[in-house]
Amino acid sequence: MNLFEVYPLYEVQPIRAKDVYVYDAQDTEYLDLYGGHAVISIGHSHPHYLKLLKVQLEQIAFYSNAIQNPLQQQLADAIGAHSCLHNYQLFLCNSGAEAIENALKLASFHTNKKRIIAFKNAFHGRTSAAVAATDNTKINAPLNQQQAVTFLPFNDSTALEKELLKGDVCAVIFEAIQGVGGLDEPSEEFVYAMEQLCKKHNACLIADEVQAGFGRTGTFFAYQKYKINPHVVTMAKGMGNGFPIGGILVCPEIEASFGLLGTTFGGNHLACQASIAVLDVLEKERLQEKTKSLEMYFKTKAAQIPQIKKVKGRGLMLGIEFDFEVSELRKKLIYEYHIFTGGSSNKNLIRILPPLTVQEHHFDSFFKALEKALK
Ligand SMILES: Cc1ncc(COP(=O)(O)O)c(C=O)c1O
Repeated sequence: MNLFEVYPLYEVQPIRAKDVYVYDAQDTEYLDLYGGHAVISIGHSHPHYLKLLKVQLEQIAFYSNAIQNPLQQQLADAIGAHSCLHNYQLFLCNSGAEAIENALKLASFHTNKKRIIAFKNAFHGRTSAAVAATDNTKINAPLNQQQAVTFLPFNDSTALEKELLKGDVCAVIFEAIQGVGGLDEPSEEFVYAMEQLCKKHNACLIADEVQAGFGRTGTFFAYQKYKINPHVVTMAKGMGNGFPIGGILVCPEIEASFGLLGTTFGGNHLACQASIAVLDVLEKERLQEKTKSLEMYFKTKAAQIPQIKKVKGRGLMLGIEFDFEVSELRKKLIYEYHIFTGGSSNKNLIRILPPLTVQEHHFDSFFKALEKALK
């Protein structure tokens, strides 16, 4: 049987991984500054993560949501402690797109409305409403286009209020730092305007933290740079360090009822343990706190390379922009210097999304390689 070929693949075949490195069958060491797309938060094969997963696997790996699973409450308490969102409620699912889908659905149930406001260059996933709220017509099938979505530019609160005044908007969904879109951020003023306008016009504000959440940007969620209270927060990637898990945090005003949301696999024992392990390590190794000084270090080094026109992002969600397309440069970094980096819909931008255990000397290696590759 052939694979359904939807991914252009690099000629690299990792067979094992440790911390910020992955290794192929010849034991070639690759520096992973991509984290499998911001997924590896506490480093590959972290011993605490392996331990909790192995122990859990031998006890019970899965049972459906028809039984008591205290690990879900343990995870909810840990997320509450890290995010300080103690009075929010946790619903668990399996991926980023599924988290978005549930967040949008909940907003629609809660407001009894159905139009979504999303932003230019947004990426929210590939399922029904998530892909419709994604600003990329190429991945929107006619089926997805049935969803009512309006795309607005960031920072235009007049345009936002004009749309909200029409009275049919259930949700305004935003990324505090755009991931796939290329690390653009709304202004502080606009973030507060979104919160206030959503309240005024009975729409739910959804913070999409699928990529930026779980400590990557220096605050637990990237939107927490501001003092706002979104109705729903979505999360996934860094949450499980590679184990598929996603979730939404729901504000106290939105009440649950039996059957409102549901999933077979979401919140299973193994997934909960994976995320509990991530939160244990984040706390013990103070990884979130360390992102700030690593960001400064990276930005100082980047400023010394004249070909870099702009440095974007915060914490360990960073980007360097050139005045040329970077796909060949990224290939060179992989094949000649054995360094993984990320791309984005901005073709001139290299994204840096390393495990949060990355250290300054890893950035030294990267910049040394980059300087050579740019010659
Ligand atoms: C901000 C954001 N939201 C949602 C998603 C979708 O997540 P998943 O690929 O797990 O469905 C992504 C994936 O890149 C993302 O970056």
